[in-house]
Amino acid sequence: MAKLDRSRRKFIAAVISLLGGAFFLDKFLSPKVRSKKTLLTVAKAEIPIHGALVYKEARVAIIREGDVIYALNLVCTHLGCTVNVTPTELICPCHGSSFDRQGKVLKGPADRSLLRYRVEAHGDFYEVVV
Ligand code: FES
Repeated sequence: MAKLDRSRRKFIAAVISLLGGAFFLDKFLSPKVRSKKTLLTVAKAEIPIHGALVYKEARVAIIREGDVIYALNLVCTHLGCTVNVTPTELICPCHGSSFDRQGKVLKGPADRSLLRYRVEAHGDFYEVVV
């Protein structure tokens, strides 16, 4: 009888170890699914055809060039100031970096392009998503 108890305990311990191991493997080895976060929702008609909508508080510009619409993060890649949007380029007031309307660096000290956000069309609206 004692031999049977020991065998049962070993079996239960093995099952618990197996379940615990499977839980930790699943938790740490499975890819993390990033949830989509909507930063802004804008009516399609609001965006000028060759212009931009600037949301200073969100630090986002939605830029439209004909049929192409994209959004740029207005945080300067040098030290994080908010860049200003002009009709031809984006200029950082802190140290003078400038970026083209695509967000690429024209003049330093910033050495990286502005971050681009994805823009998704939903009916009569665009959503800027992260
Ligand atoms: Fe923009 Fe320095 S923070 S150029």
